Amino acid sequence: MDPKAMKSDLVLILDYGSQYTHLITRRIRSLSVFSLCISGTSPLKAITELNPCVVILSGGPHSVHTPDSPSFPEGFAEWAESNGVFVLGVCYGLQLIVQRLGGEVRVGEKQEYGRMEIEVGKNHGIFGNKSVGDRQVVWMSHGDEVARLPEGFEIVGRSQQGAVAAVQSLDRRFYGLQYHPEVTHSPEGMETLQHFLFDICGISAGWKMEDVMEEEIKVIKGTVGPEDHVICALSGGVDSTVAATLVYKAIGDRLHCVFVDNGLLRFKERERVMETFEKDLHLPVTCVDATEQFLSKLKGVEDPEIKRKIIGKEFICIFDTFAHELEQKLGRKPTYLVQGTLYPDVIESCPPPGTGRTHSHTIKSHHNVGGLPKDMKLKLIEPLKLLFKDEVRQLGRILNVPQGFLKRHPFPGPGLAVRVLGDVTKNNALDILRQVDEIFIQSIRDAGLYDEIWQAFAVFLPVRSVGVQGDQRTHSHVVALRAVTSQDGMTADWYYFEHKFLDDVARKICNSVRGVNRVVQDITSKPPSTIEWE
Ligand code: XMP
Repeated sequence: MDPKAMKSDLVLILDYGSQYTHLITRRIRSLSVFSLCISGTSPLKAITELNPCVVILSGGPHSVHTPDSPSFPEGFAEWAESNGVFVLGVCYGLQLIVQRLGGEVRVGEKQEYGRMEIEVGKNHGIFGNKSVGDRQVVWMSHGDEVARLPEGFEIVGRSQQGAVAAVQSLDRRFYGLQYHPEVTHSPEGMETLQHFLFDICGISAGWKMEDVMEEEIKVIKGTVGPEDHVICALSGGVDSTVAATLVYKAIGDRLHCVFVDNGLLRFKERERVMETFEKDLHLPVTCVDATEQFLSKLKGVEDPEIKRKIIGKEFICIFDTFAHELEQKLGRKPTYLVQGTLYPDVIESCPPPGTGRTHSHTIKSHHNVGGLPKDMKLKLIEPLKLLFKDEVRQLGRILNVPQGFLKRHPFPGPGLAVRVLGDVTKNNALDILRQVDEIFIQSIRDAGLYDEIWQAFAVFLPVRSVGVQGDQRTHSHVVALRAVTSQDGMTADWYYFEHKFLDDVARKICNSVRGVNRVVQDITSKPPSTIEWE
């Protein structure tokens, strides 16, 4: 997606490192307004060429008094004023406006953190939809406070302690809130943000996923030359599937996809995803059965990180072979590679100033099992790189990716290798795990719980326990069940099943999977555990 080519009004967020910055971007998008977030220290040109109607300066953990604290570039305020651009500062963003436009910020006598009440002092401008004296609870997080306003500014709200909570200059089109309107702890915050964007700035709410799709297709068509060929590795997950479907819509059969069965997939996974690719999405996919190749390399390997590395390396080998075979068939090298990179990966690769994290353009290696064959020099197409996960699902719906597919739980790139603890080739572990996992997942579906759960799966433990089945003593395997709820996989809570459900599942597993006589449940959250066991 080329942000410069988007037809809708843009609200640009300059990021100064607040943990809530991306929430502002998401909240604004949820109002059908196109919003992007870039570093708060971006050069003026990077800001002006995006042609935003509104710029929001985010909060951040800094003080304007600290030397080298991040700030907007020279000439930004002048550019905004002379081009009719509205500027809203949030927390640190407000303090930046005040200080850089000639006012004064001082270390507050009383710091304000957490829930606070503020009172509306003037009911025009940012509080134009309120009455003087109205009170609201907001989420504050600041040590510094405004001591003197720049010319042409007025105070329109104060906290219960008397600190400045909201300022504005109607003539200069600068506004500032000392609290976070985007968090749910500020219950009237979204109403204020809406009033600001629509009533004050006159933004039009025209950002639709249909437009994003059309825009994307146009960009892909404009990028990929008429003779160029494109390759894509499908993982069976939502992101690569939606990315490939979009590219296919743009260039048709010049897209060549590969799906690798590494022998570490779930029960009937290969058949199921290939059916979706071929029957529902009509994607041109080559399925490579590389089970032997992967499992022979994994034989005897117990260390989780070494397993991951072997799998990553093997995948690149197969992808390389696929690309070379394609080159021979087509008589020319494929030029582009499609990747399902999402906006959080992009943001993560370019951390905001002041966070102490370094800039890097690699996507989390942990989650990037594939990677590029080095000598291929493929150019990247990343059609989802400005979208959040739920927006990718929305786009998938428009592209007719089946709903059931879009809602699938995440599955790690190294597959069942990180769910069979130790050597994956021993004890028929993969087969046993597939059967157990299928019973567990099917029971969750039957109970109508699948969509409530972020991720559920079974784990094969490398221990045996004594049991009694029929009249026989057994010495068989133990499996663990794991189900968690989560927003983004970064933290997670274990999911609470009813006793009856667990009882039924455990019974079913022991009765129908040979070699298992004990089922346990994982009841740890993340942290201290991770979601996967390896
Ligand atoms: P953890 O286990 O780190 O997992 O709490 C968080 C999320 O990431 C998935 N995961 C992976 N995904 N390659 C992937 O593509 C990996 O190596 C990998 N390890 C974990 C995990 O399933 C969960 O959704």
